[in-house]
Amino acid sequence: MTTHKAVATVAIRGKLALIDAPTVAPTGRQVCVHVEWTASTPLDLHQNDGGLLVTHPQILGDGIAGTVVETGPDVKNLAVGDKVFGFAFKENMQKAYQEYATVSETSLGKLPSEFSLQEAITLPNNTVTVFHAVTKDLGLPLEWPRLPSHTNPHADTPILIWGGASSCGQYALQILHAWGYTNLLATASPRHHEYLRSLGARHTFDYRDVDVASKIQRAVDNNTRTGPAVPFVLDCIASQQGSLTQIAGVAQKGTRVAALLPVIVRDATDDVAPEYAMNVQAAVDWAEGVEARGVRTHFYEDDVFFREHLQSSVVPELLATGIVKPNKQRIVEGATLLERAQAAMDLLRRKDVSGERLVWRVSDLEL
Ligand SMILES: NC(=O)c1ccc[n+]([C@@H]2O[C@H](COP(=O)([O-])OP(=O)(O)OC[C@H]3O[C@@H](n4cnc5c(N)ncnc54)[C@H](OP(=O)(O)O)[C@@H]3O)[C@@H](O)[C@H]2O)c1
Repeated sequence: MTTHKAVATVAIRGKLALIDAPTVAPTGRQVCVHVEWTASTPLDLHQNDGGLLVTHPQILGDGIAGTVVETGPDVKNLAVGDKVFGFAFKENMQKAYQEYATVSETSLGKLPSEFSLQEAITLPNNTVTVFHAVTKDLGLPLEWPRLPSHTNPHADTPILIWGGASSCGQYALQILHAWGYTNLLATASPRHHEYLRSLGARHTFDYRDVDVASKIQRAVDNNTRTGPAVPFVLDCIASQQGSLTQIAGVAQKGTRVAALLPVIVRDATDDVAPEYAMNVQAAVDWAEGVEARGVRTHFYEDDVFFREHLQSSVVPELLATGIVKPNKQRIVEGATLLERAQAAMDLLRRKDVSGERLVWRVSDLEL
């Protein structure tokens, strides 16, 4: 059996470990990718420090960017040598923190020629998250193809993106704006406000402001509209104290809140283990008639169109046409794959990430 190097979580709150993983020959519509870049995400911390959805030893990482080195017999859209990027998460063989990953071609898109793998790796998991959360959990349409003639019935409906500077928040602003949702409100640290307005936010708020809920309500005050002041909220942070409590001060009867699970009851630190919950409706006291849901992007393939086309066609086209700009990147350095993965994990635990994605090289070779 051929093997390659992979980085795995091996114990709750332990150091990451380098393991030998089998290199799996692709079958059916699978391809084998030589993984060159990945991006660390908060899920790594939830898994390493909180054991969320983990069976040890588990290879980490769900964002892959690299080169196709082998194709299964039924592959239609990819060929050996193609540069690709994508989001895959189900089994160890699909995970990103390893030199070779074997994934379905539907989990990958071709890299547009004007972009690098390092830029593209910031897109896959959170663009997919936005399409899934907006359509399934908020119930707002994102039709494909986008037609200029299409009139958006919610063009002027206030939509709050809590955590606009997060990777997910930045993609939510860009995608909603491109689809004609113009009344977007975002919370973030003030240093990001101007950038978020350039991505499509009409109003920006400092999430640390004790009056943030009333400031949001005043900004959307409109006597001609019936129903809740802010009918839709995408909470990209889902912190019990840091976002949901404040959103509960904005939400009224009829507001729909979609929060990216897990609910963070307590953040991980160097000294303290994290605590998570999965029930958004029970996490805080909502006004009667607020519908609060937890987003689970791992079910995005339930939508048959998304399963086949979202990663293979839609996301690459959004990048190629400039509708979506990559997140800013911070390159995490280290002498080895393991050192880079551990350094990124330590930055996540220290919350040393603001308006940027932590990206790093997986294999030392670029094909
Ligand atoms: N369930 C799912 O399907 C799913 C899918 C994707 C992501 N997620 C989860 O969603 C969360 C966000 O993921 P991500 O990759 O987008 O995160 P990220 O980019 O790493 O988020 C970092 C940003 O969070 C912002 N932030 C931190 N605390 C905040 C608060 N209380 N209010 C507003 N903003 C705050 C910071 O903003 P400033 O710089 O402005 O301070 C920082 O820029 C993670 O917990 C992740 O696991 C869940």
